[in-house]
Amino acid sequence: MKILIINGPNLNFLGRRNVHIYGHMTLDEINSQLKMQAKEMGMEVEFFQSNHEGEIIDRLQSVDKFDGVIINPGALAHYSYSLRDALEPLTIPVIEVHLSNIFAREDFRCRSVTAPVCRGFLSGFGWQVYFFALDIMFKLLTSKKK
Ligand code: DQA
Repeated sequence: MKILIINGPNLNFLGRRNVHIYGHMTLDEINSQLKMQAKEMGMEVEFFQSNHEGEIIDRLQSVDKFDGVIINPGALAHYSYSLRDALEPLTIPVIEVHLSNIFAREDFRCRSVTAPVCRGFLSGFGWQVYFFALDIMFKLLTSKKK
């Protein structure tokens, strides 16, 4: 089971950016723990972070070798129809995650245009949201309900 974990714009600044909202963990710290967790579950993870919408779309257009995708689109979730269009045709499960509870924040964040084309959506819980998503992905893939 191979899972692609994508992080969008500004998530490379985790641990330095709005720590009262996103916490003190850096993306590298989260990713190295995710790698260990995945290994224990018998899964493999690959990471991709970009601040560029087009690069994320390019990455999503070649996911043949993956069984699932976990994506934190950052602010792209709120307005990127191109990202939505790249996610929509995927036949593997995609879980959208956000560290913060986007519904408890500014109005412009209270909407995700990408979540409706994902298998599911998790928002809030800080860095742990990635671990919850990995766990859900494992269950989805092992129960063969995609
Ligand atoms: C975020 C929420 C977005 O609104 C914001 O632009 C981010 C991070 C989150 O993980 O909570 O970059 O996706």
